[in-house]
Amino acid sequence: MARLISHMDYSIICVTLALSIACRVCGTAAPFFIFGDSTVDPGNNNYINTIPENQANYKPYGHNGFFEEPTGRFSDGRVIVDFIAEYAKLPVIPPFLQPSAEFINGVNFASGGSGILPETNRGQVIGLQTQIKHFEEVQKSLTEKLGEAKAKELFSEAVYFISIGSNDYLGGYLANPKMQENYGPGEYVGLVIGNLTQAIQVLYDKGGRKFGFLSLSPLGCLPALRALSPNANEGVCFEEACALAHAHNSALKAVLTSLEYVLRGFKYCNSNFYDWLQERIDNPSKYGFKDGVNACCGTGPYGGIFSCGGTKKVTDYQLCDNADDFVWWDSLHPTEKIHEQFGQALWNGPPSSVGPYTLQHLFLSKEELTIADEVDGPDRQNFHY
Ligand SMILES: *[C@@H]1O[C@H](CO)[C@@H](O)[C@H](O)[C@H]1NC(C)=O
Repeated sequence: MARLISHMDYSIICVTLALSIACRVCGTAAPFFIFGDSTVDPGNNNYINTIPENQANYKPYGHNGFFEEPTGRFSDGRVIVDFIAEYAKLPVIPPFLQPSAEFINGVNFASGGSGILPETNRGQVIGLQTQIKHFEEVQKSLTEKLGEAKAKELFSEAVYFISIGSNDYLGGYLANPKMQENYGPGEYVGLVIGNLTQAIQVLYDKGGRKFGFLSLSPLGCLPALRALSPNANEGVCFEEACALAHAHNSALKAVLTSLEYVLRGFKYCNSNFYDWLQERIDNPSKYGFKDGVNACCGTGPYGGIFSCGGTKKVTDYQLCDNADDFVWWDSLHPTEKIHEQFGQALWNGPPSSVGPYTLQHLFLSKEELTIADEVDGPDRQNFHY
């Protein structure tokens, strides 16, 4: 009997050991690579030569104290990818340009003010194409470190999150008469989406298989745009900016649907941030907010003059008492609370806002057949916005 028990104990130990080794091999979570603009920049712009509008490493950014100092995040605290990393049980993903950064859990390449088109804020930001060049550097160094096979696995298990496009339409188009002369709105959306599609394909060719997208918000309802609206005193959003965001999101949705059919192993999580945020702007109290229209930090109508922090052209600014009551942190960026709520939606949210896969699924799933392999995945959400 004693011998039997010890034999059983021994097997249990073996199984436990085998499991823990297997988990080490598969890693606690897939790594996380992030590309984008100020919606997800964790402080890359602290390291580049740019204008104060593209930086957020001064007070009151980071006001809620989650990080000890202002980090460069355009928020009162964390941004959406910080929450996603937490749900995926990853540490905070470091900015690519941070000198001591460890890249094994992923890297954040995002840069406030950047766009999909290389022209957008050229010379002041790290545009999407350059962000992808930076990714290639990381890929090269991790491949040297881990060896070809291990690195290949890492890059195909990784989740690639892309949140970019607003600056192409705001600064790049609406505030750029030359661009408007050269291209009609529909044509311009086509260029932006064409370049984004190329970027996705480059990452796919480099081994990326799992992609997440933060779609564009109703851009005309940003306090800065609401203040510029031709009907500003009626409190309405800037129609033209909303229309561009809407057209961009529809075009992206169509592209992703077709990429899923042509790229083997390609899986994605898209989101309907537009309707999701509009709902909170229109009905703040239903979601725990008091104000869906005005910026917590800024000045002028709707707090729409982008002066938060007093480092920019207009130095006067007001700060609200409690950012958690607000949808908008500054004239152009939502509060941490919005980032958190939408992070949760992307993680395991309702099919009305997120799909066909949730980010949770992308982080936790191993290789499996996809549509391009002519099979519908088992827990693929029925995505219908
Ligand atoms: C990418 O954008 C450039 C303008 O920067 C444009 O000339 C080019 O046609 C676009 N590429 C695609 C594939 O749409």
